[in-house]
Amino acid sequence: MLHESDDNLLPKIIQERLPDSIFTRHIYYFPSIGSTNAYAKALAKKGGAEGSLVIAEKQTEGKGRMGRKWYSPSHVNLYFSVIFRPPFSIDRVFSLNMLIALALVDAIYNITGLKTLIKWPNDVYFTGKKMAGILTEFSANKKRAEYIIVGTGLNVNWDIKDKPELQYLATSLIKEIGRIVSRVDLLVKILELLERYYRLLLRDQDSFIYKRWNELSMVIGKEVLIDSSNERKKARVKGIDKNGALVIKDENGKESSIICGDVKVLFPPLPGN
Ligand code: BTN
Repeated sequence: MLHESDDNLLPKIIQERLPDSIFTRHIYYFPSIGSTNAYAKALAKKGGAEGSLVIAEKQTEGKGRMGRKWYSPSHVNLYFSVIFRPPFSIDRVFSLNMLIALALVDAIYNITGLKTLIKWPNDVYFTGKKMAGILTEFSANKKRAEYIIVGTGLNVNWDIKDKPELQYLATSLIKEIGRIVSRVDLLVKILELLERYYRLLLRDQDSFIYKRWNELSMVIGKEVLIDSSNERKKARVKGIDKNGALVIKDENGKESSIICGDVKVLFPPLPGN
């Protein structure tokens, strides 16, 4: 039986399990930190290498998208950020986002058998509740990405009852499968798949990303409410395009694509659509 205390995310253990990975050459491990993304960003600004991995057992100022906070209790979940320095333009930054979400969904399935879905732009959901979130931050110079930080928070062994206000919005693996999951096994699998998919992306063999994303997306064909750049609109989702943008048809039948924003699925569908 696995106990949470046996399951520290120690760099030595991750390195032993993935000796040749680009993500285990430079691991920065913290029992507690403000935010792994903030640390990785500062590291990247000072020249931190591609693949550098920042892991924490706990965050005191975990950051979510759109200025939100990411609740990060100690030793129960995964909080990690990776520095990427891909040789491509910022137009493809979103592909990286998509890769991480895919690696998460596939690793969760591989380790636990649970089939999760992706909610655009890059959340992992199970039965309408959020299990993981991804925060991407980047710096670009003349359209070329200098560095991209991808930070992931995945709820693993967290007892949701600890935060009643999140009960209807969030979930964790233990809540869904009823047993403790090894965070080390999960992290190792995520990193392994992430590297495999990233190498395909670098070789331009990335069509699988969009295909799988469309298969796994929980918003396709749904009526949604979209909040983006101070605007809120209702629309039906047609799909996700090659740049990771959400392709929508609004109430007047006009098609457009959105690259960032927040989506809420509406029930029931809008009349007349
Ligand atoms: C979201 O709002 O859905 C994104 C959440 C991202 C949380 C992770 S936890 C590790 C990394 N460090 C942070 O401060 N945030 C990301």
